[in-house]
Order: sequence, then structure tokens, then C-alpha cells
Amino acid sequence: MSADHMGFYNIEDLRQGAKRRLPHGIFEFIDGGAEDGIGVQNNRDAYTSLKVKNRVLIDVSQRSAETEIFGKKIKMPYGISPTGAGGLVYYGGEIGLAKAAARMGVPCTVATNALLPMEEIAEAAGGNLWFQLYMWADKEMSMKFLDRVKATGFETLIVTVDGPVGPNREYNKKNGFHAPLKYTPKLISQVLARPGWCYRVLLKQYLNRGAFRKENYPEEIERRVTVASEEMSVVKTDRQSWEDIRKIRDVWKGNLLIKGLQSAEDAVLAADEGLEGVILSNHGGRYVDCAAAPLQVLPETKAAVGDRIKIIIDSGARRGSDLVKAIALGADMVMSGRPTLFGAAAGNEAGAYRALEIFYDEMDRVMAQLGLNTIEEIGPQIFWNPPEWVPRPQLGFRAAAE
Ligand SMILES: Cc1cc2nc3c(=O)[nH]c(=O)nc-3n(C[C@H](O)[C@H](O)[C@H](O)COP(=O)(O)O)c2cc1C
Repeated sequence: MSADHMGFYNIEDLRQGAKRRLPHGIFEFIDGGAEDGIGVQNNRDAYTSLKVKNRVLIDVSQRSAETEIFGKKIKMPYGISPTGAGGLVYYGGEIGLAKAAARMGVPCTVATNALLPMEEIAEAAGGNLWFQLYMWADKEMSMKFLDRVKATGFETLIVTVDGPVGPNREYNKKNGFHAPLKYTPKLISQVLARPGWCYRVLLKQYLNRGAFRKENYPEEIERRVTVASEEMSVVKTDRQSWEDIRKIRDVWKGNLLIKGLQSAEDAVLAADEGLEGVILSNHGGRYVDCAAAPLQVLPETKAAVGDRIKIIIDSGARRGSDLVKAIALGADMVMSGRPTLFGAAAGNEAGAYRALEIFYDEMDRVMAQLGLNTIEEIGPQIFWNPPEWVPRPQLGFRAAAE
């Protein structure tokens, strides 16, 4: 752990730091799930239900969490999920997130809904940047948009497919924090209660760029977050199908992944369509509230697709041990969105880096404690008495003298 821990020792500390700094409605928008928050809790419960066994007297002095994904070495099997909220937690937050990831040596995903344009983020941060696409109702516009993504130099494209309709998040409505954003007395009082945020975000935004805008959006659609552009809105994607993915596959020669599936059946279809990977995700419990945790469907997904495509998982990882557990169940990499957003809220690039450092330090420690030297050694043998959705571990008996 570096000396500059900023007073944050775990992801929950960063979450509390974000809560103290952000206007209530913005914090809830980031932190909350859909409806009753069952999905958010279930994502955590799936991880915490898994118990591991330590292994002793194994030389782990040369251990490393380094791995490779899509031909690039990464410091640990972790990447930052796309979120459109970087610029809401800190002015220029998307650049802060990307720079933190580049410094740590892990991928960071730029979202279609980012407040800053992709070109500016890529130029300022560099590193292993991936791009996430939400398709607009105007599909031609989305296909044209991909030329820009390609020209900016992105090699990995994630198409998010889990939002055929907008989610039901009642707290956003109560806070007045939904599109179109309206400056109601309630919202204004929440904002004024956080003068630090007014300075770090609101003032800098208005002085430097004017109203909050989704600057990746093409000129022809309204970008201001205070205006709802109904027909072209990203939430109107209920006309999406595998046919669209095929069209994207035809033009996108880089790595192509879909994000937001929660079933082995869809993962098999993705492999059949020739995609490079899938991201098992329930959007952090933000769409279907009673959704299974992606971790719970990971073993059956791995059994169904094997090594045909990369399986990445997000939703609910908060500890380095969670990364180890997901890898043990067959994931190639783990992602999350909230932890680094909490970090960025607390200190832009330094705070986001702190979140990554916490994941790294915790993963390194737990690998040592479990007697694991490499990512390849991580498997279901680490579990003690796992629940029924986890394959029975092969016990790793070997001679002590080995
Ligand atoms: C505030 C916020 C905004 C998000 N925006 C997007 C987005 O624009 N596109 C997308 O594919 N996923 C988006 N997500 C979902 C994340 O990519 C990811 O699936 C989710 O954060 C995983 O849950 P976790 O961070 O709790 O582990 C967003 C999540 C949050 C919290």
C-alpha cells in the first residue's frame, strides 16, 4: 500500500467519502439500484457467500496477478466499467478515471454517455482504453458513430444490450434526478449543501464548458442533460436484436463484446456470432432488481462456452478476494463501475487510483494467503464447501516435498 492512502483503506471508505462530497441525488444515482435494491445486495451476497481455504508452506514470494486480455498485458485481471457519471463526480472525472487506469496498467472503458468527448479523454489519458456503445433508436447514426470510435484508436468495443427500456429507480424521481434534469428547489438545496462539489464540479463545468452535456453525442441530437430528446434517446433501444450485432460485427474488426447478459444461453449465442467476449453483468443491480448475480451464472456460462470467448464479469466486486473468487469460477477478468467513481468523487485521478490500488493490494494479499503464485493457479479448489451453483472443487492433493 502506498503511503498516500488519503485516509481510505477500503472501497467502503471511498463510498463514504463520496457520500460526504456529492449532492444527495447524485450519490444515490450512483450508489443505488433499481426498485428495492435487491439486485445490489444479491450481487454482494453472491461474493460473500463463498468461503475460501488458505494453503500453507508454499513459496509465494514470486507471485503475480499479471495477466493478458486481447493481446495486452494487464497488471491484474480488472478493468473499469463504463459509467456516464465521471464528469458528475469531479470536473474532468472521465480523464481522471482513464489516467488512474493507465497508471495502474489496467483497461478503462469510455462510455457513450460520458460528459467529455472520447477524443479528449483518449488524448489526455492514453492507456488501454475500451469504448462502450449504447445504440440510438436511429441505428444508422450509431453505425456512423463507430467510424469515430475507430478513428480515435479504440480497439475494443463493448455494446451494452441490457436496457431495452429505462430502469425503475424511484429514488431518482424523488430526488428530481432524472432526464430531463430539472433544477427543482429540492435538487438546488441538495446541491447547495455540498459547496465543495459546487466548486469542484459545477463551477468548473459552467466556466469551462457550459451546461452539462453528453459530448460524445452526434451534433444532430440534443446533448444537454437538462433536455429529454425522446425519439433519439438512448433508453429507446427496445428495437435492438442480434441483427444489429451482426451489422456491427461486419464493420468492427477490433474486439467486440456485448455487455449486460445474464445467461449461459446468450453467451453461447455471442460465441456463435463470432464475438470476442461477453460481459456478464446486471448493470450493478440497476435494471432488473430481482436479477441473479452475474457471479451466480458464471459457472454455468463457463461450462457452456469454455474457452471460445472471453468471459468478463461485473456487478458487486468490492474486495480483492472478489476478483480471486470470480477468476476461480472461470472469469477472465472482473470489472466494476462504482468503486472508481467513489474514488474519483473523493479525489479525481488520485482517488480513482486509490480504488485500483486497494483492489490490487487486497488481491495480492489473498493470493499469497491461498498459496497462489499466478492467475492460472486460481481455480475452484480454493473454495470450502461451496453453494450448489459452484462446481465441486477438485482437491489439490500433492506431495509436501514437491
Ligand atoms: C452511475 C453509473 C452509470 C453507469 N453508466 C453506464 C453506461 O453509461 N453504460 C454502461 O454500459 N453501463 C453503465 N453503468 C453500469 C456499469 O458499467 C457496471 O455494469 C456497474 O457499475 C457494475 O456494478 P458495480 O460497479 O456495482 O460493480 C453505470 C453504472 C453506474 C453506477
